[in-house]
Amino acid sequence: MSTMAMASGCVQQLQDLEPTTQDFESAVVEGLSAAVKTLPCKFFYDAAGSALFDRICKLPEYYPTRTELRILERHAGEMAELLGPEAALVEFGSGSANKVGLILSRLENPRVYVPVDISRSHLLAGAAALARAFPELRVAPVCADYTRAFRLPEVARSAPGRLGGFFPGSTIGNFTRPEAVEFLRQTRQTLGSGAVMIVGADLRKDEAVLNAAYDDSAGVTAAFNLNLLRRINRELGGNFDLAGFAHEARWNADEGRVEMHLVSRGRQQVRIGGQHFDFMPGESIHTENSYKYTIDGFRELASEAGYEPLRVWTDAKQLFSVHALRAR
Ligand code: AVI
Repeated sequence: MSTMAMASGCVQQLQDLEPTTQDFESAVVEGLSAAVKTLPCKFFYDAAGSALFDRICKLPEYYPTRTELRILERHAGEMAELLGPEAALVEFGSGSANKVGLILSRLENPRVYVPVDISRSHLLAGAAALARAFPELRVAPVCADYTRAFRLPEVARSAPGRLGGFFPGSTIGNFTRPEAVEFLRQTRQTLGSGAVMIVGADLRKDEAVLNAAYDDSAGVTAAFNLNLLRRINRELGGNFDLAGFAHEARWNADEGRVEMHLVSRGRQQVRIGGQHFDFMPGESIHTENSYKYTIDGFRELASEAGYEPLRVWTDAKQLFSVHALRAR
């Protein structure tokens, strides 16, 4: 389906592939029917979840956002140089698109910006804001699950300069390693050989710092995690009692990831539509993985996906890394 995004400015046609309620229901039923219950983290981001995530990004314990922003502020000029003049930049999972401006403002005559996001309202708000801030830029939003193949808008494919990709926020950490390789391979295919991909990846660090970042003292991350159950209740006719589940963040050293869980406080049965799901006391729903990489580990992963590592930038405390990769 394709609809006009909005009449104003340089926003082009919206390509609309937003997941349906049916997609959400199938994923929830499949995840809760498994021996070890899981829910896909991509469904965190309804309007309330996106607003909670924006609050997480400002928490004192959640260092990734402000650290990555500082790296981008400092090195966006070098990133822009790698991308070159008249580029078209595709942002995978653009959300409110509040980081990409740092790169766009340093690019020489950027032609096209393609924000891709699963949440249509966030996507359109971000696209409109970027079109206002960069009146010469053509903004071509795509509402899609960016982990799946989608067709790049024609306006981006025909830009005179290089195609670039931008995937900030360490969202790559929310994929398993094979998923991350597959995702990068797909971006490589979408962007083509010679494209420059800029990716933010959170680094391994002290366990206490990680646990605090994913279980903050104000309880915002807990509310973000529990909001997934609220969304199931509202959109799929579920009857989760939110007070019956506790948020937990666990560092899994063997896997190199922080896990988020919703742990059942007692024995209970939950109904979703026509189906029932039983929970034992202490049984968890595994809702998210957030993998933490070493610089070399991430470069290896990128190489496996067909990218040549070009540059990497970090902060003084080595909390976070931003990588520039070239598609082979
Ligand atoms: C979006 N993603 C990179 C965040 C992360 O850090 O894994 C999501 C998040 N989950 C809890 N806090 C933030």
